[in-house]
Amino acid sequence: MDKFIIKGGYRLTGEVEISGAKNAALPLMSACLLTDKECLLEGIPYLKDIDTMGKLLTSFGSELERDKKGVMKIRTEKIKNYEAPYDLVRTMRASVLALGPLVGRYGVAKISMPGGCAIGDRPINLHINALKKMGAKIEQSHGYIIAKAKRLKGAKIYFDTQTVTGTENVIMAAVLAKGETIIENAAKEPEVVDLVNFLRKMGAKIEGEGTSIIRIEGVDNLSSASHKVIPDRIEAGTYIIAAAATCGNVLVKNCVMEHLDALEQKLVEAGVTIQKEKNGVRVIGKRETRSVDITTMPYPGFPTDLQAQFMAFMTIAKGLSVIRETIFENRFIHVSELKRMGADITIKDRNAIVKGVDELTGAPVMVSDLRAGAALVIAGLIAEGETEVLRIYHLDRGYEAMEKKLSKLGAKIKRLKE
Ligand code: EPZ
Repeated sequence: MDKFIIKGGYRLTGEVEISGAKNAALPLMSACLLTDKECLLEGIPYLKDIDTMGKLLTSFGSELERDKKGVMKIRTEKIKNYEAPYDLVRTMRASVLALGPLVGRYGVAKISMPGGCAIGDRPINLHINALKKMGAKIEQSHGYIIAKAKRLKGAKIYFDTQTVTGTENVIMAAVLAKGETIIENAAKEPEVVDLVNFLRKMGAKIEGEGTSIIRIEGVDNLSSASHKVIPDRIEAGTYIIAAAATCGNVLVKNCVMEHLDALEQKLVEAGVTIQKEKNGVRVIGKRETRSVDITTMPYPGFPTDLQAQFMAFMTIAKGLSVIRETIFENRFIHVSELKRMGADITIKDRNAIVKGVDELTGAPVMVSDLRAGAALVIAGLIAEGETEVLRIYHLDRGYEAMEKKLSKLGAKIKRLKE
């Protein structure tokens, strides 16, 4: 297993190019199951999770082609297998995104239950209940969900909780269903909007994306389409926070700042300068930053996927910051590692109270999940001395060439075989 060695205390300066969004690319790839024509996706990032999704699609019978410039061609004329096995699903829960397209187009899917992960139980009951309402027969046995339907029929689906992949699964199940599907309390994330834009190019009839109510009128088949993935707002947010925390001056390119309004507002409150420029967003940190409170919420609220990174920044701000995590029940695993680096953080149920300290000190730390890992890297960049970040395979799932991008910005970081 690889690890990072980071020497802290260097300001980030220069330019960084943001890659295509992992959480948009994954549903887009799965949506290609919905047509027998070849689809072309551009701006697909080079990440572990993308490789896993590629393996899953080829196991169903898709033909996949990738070049070195982020272009991927996917063609699924017919499927030879409709099972997403446990050993793939347990490494990437987003495999559950195969459920909607397989049942929607082929009337059958056998998906391993994803199980929980470090940040929480992560049930998929809302996905399953929605498909049942659309007429699928669902059986659960031996850790698998087996879904069958002659042809799904449109239904009115109300989500008790806003679920990103749940909304994406239902949209993909509904585009070939008979009749109209209405999703109420739908997720509004930009990645959901990106999926709808792609499906509409394929001939799907959808409206309301980006709002709480999405209507889908089923059609009989979908054609081929090509699409460029939106930039990764969580990767962008991670580098923006890193630039602010190191008191740096960085131009973040290929970043859609409108997708990060909540983060921008909180950084400006903390005293960071964010200015839009011709080909990107410039982030200028300052020595004395103010502590700021955040509460994670579904989009457009503050993203849970940036909570850990923002907390790392707040460990050296001046004052007290209350960080409230409302989406996942166990998303404070990074706190104990940050405390080993000298952070002053107290957890009171869903709140982490961060008291700013003068500085963190480098230490060996362990990554538990993708975004916690990003937080520990940011902490290493600002800590005095050397930080060893272990189990960085979590980071390779969602950050393309992280150490290369950071080194280009002046960070002292190297990847070693552990
Ligand atoms: C997506 O996960 C993202 N993953 C996550 O990013 C992100 O943290 C999350 O949305 C929240 O924004 C992808 O898009 C591939 P949810 P998802 O369903 O769809 C509960 C990353 O770092 N819920 O929106 O799995 C659930 O437990 C990853 O890239 C149910 O109760 O999240 C959670 O509390 C981590 N029943 C809340 O809803 C369900 O059937 C939101 O989860 C589904 C969800």
